[in-house]
Amino acid sequence: MTQRTFVLLKPDAVRRGLVGTLLARFEAKGLEIVAMELRHIDGEQADAHYAEHVERDFYPPLRDFVTSGPLVALVLQGDEAIEVVRTLNGATDGRKAAPGTIRGDLSLSNRENLVHGSDSPESAEREIALWFPGLA
Ligand code: RTP
Ligand code: MG
Repeated sequence: MTQRTFVLLKPDAVRRGLVGTLLARFEAKGLEIVAMELRHIDGEQADAHYAEHVERDFYPPLRDFVTSGPLVALVLQGDEAIEVVRTLNGATDGRKAAPGTIRGDLSLSNRENLVHGSDSPESAEREIALWFPGLA
């Protein structure tokens, strides 16, 4: 089933010069770029994106991190795109993520883990509407 999912290349990806590397992985997999924009978000946008996490202990440093520099917001499309992107991204903690995944190969952190991918069809719909309200 063709799906759309929302992806972030987080500020660590931009700072480390990994935007091209990460886009290449998604494109090589066969996912289509439907929308893409470089943005530097404020705390309010971070709170809206991470609404499910705002009360968590780890949220204040996460908020500082995602607002610390430009990031790339993307909508990707393809067969089972939501689960496919989560699999490519790997486990949340880069120290534990499997080799072959983006985080497993390129991140050594539980916070600065390079990428975000929607975790369900409901999250994808909400996040795409939040970040790209004009997208049909
Ligand atoms: P994401 O939402 O970014 O795709 O990552 P995820 O589903 O794998 O992880 P989630 O539980 O949704 O956490 C969102 C982001 O918060 C940071 N985080 N820090 N204990 C910690 O310090 C901690 N736990 C999570 C990570 O940047 C994670 O991707
Ligand atoms: Mg998540």
